[in-house]
Amino acid sequence: MFTVSPDPARLDVPLIHRYLSQESYWARGIPRETVDRALANSLNFGLYGPDGRQAAFARVVTDYATFAWLCDVFVLPEFQGRGLGKQLMQAVFAHPDLQDLRRFLLATLDAHGLYRRFGFQDLAAPDRYLEIKKLNPYGVPTGN
Ligand SMILES: CC(C)(COP(=O)(O)OP(=O)(O)OC[C@H]1O[C@@H](n2cnc3c(N)ncnc32)[C@H](O)[C@@H]1OP(=O)(O)O)[C@@H](O)C(=O)NCCC(=O)NCCS
Repeated sequence: MFTVSPDPARLDVPLIHRYLSQESYWARGIPRETVDRALANSLNFGLYGPDGRQAAFARVVTDYATFAWLCDVFVLPEFQGRGLGKQLMQAVFAHPDLQDLRRFLLATLDAHGLYRRFGFQDLAAPDRYLEIKKLNPYGVPTGN
């Protein structure tokens, strides 16, 4: 059985850094200290197997009152396609500190279907949103 925990002490930080820096399409090359700082200032969710090893991760940047940004979501390739991404998202959106927010945002290249089942919709008014986005923040081109 796989379980989700928001306990920061359980996170396998080397694994998270390895995935984000080497395998993700959005944070290639991210330095370990940048990951450490992001984790220290976010609500983090790990999904763990029966042996306690981490199989998936998600991070929420939030003020716990009005706004949240979901990011850095991944299920390790060997665990994909068996419902763990959905289990992880279920736990994220059920977290008591993330209820009744005014706005919950995320960006994704191709996993829209995963998030739509939890209520996410296309931006109703994309013309109202602006961004500052570095195209090559860590010396390696990143997507999304
Ligand atoms: C996207 C990801 C987190 C999904 O996790 P998973 O454990 O493989 O997914 P699940 O088995 O829980 O199923 C996900 C559901 O969303 C759907 N889905 C939509 N887009 C998807 C996508 N790009 N990848 C995987 N599933 C997707 C699946 O079809 C499935 O629906 P279904 O049950 O009706 O068939 C995982 O594949 C992953 O880490 N991919 C690489 C990194 C990534 O793209 N992260 C998301 C960044 S926004």
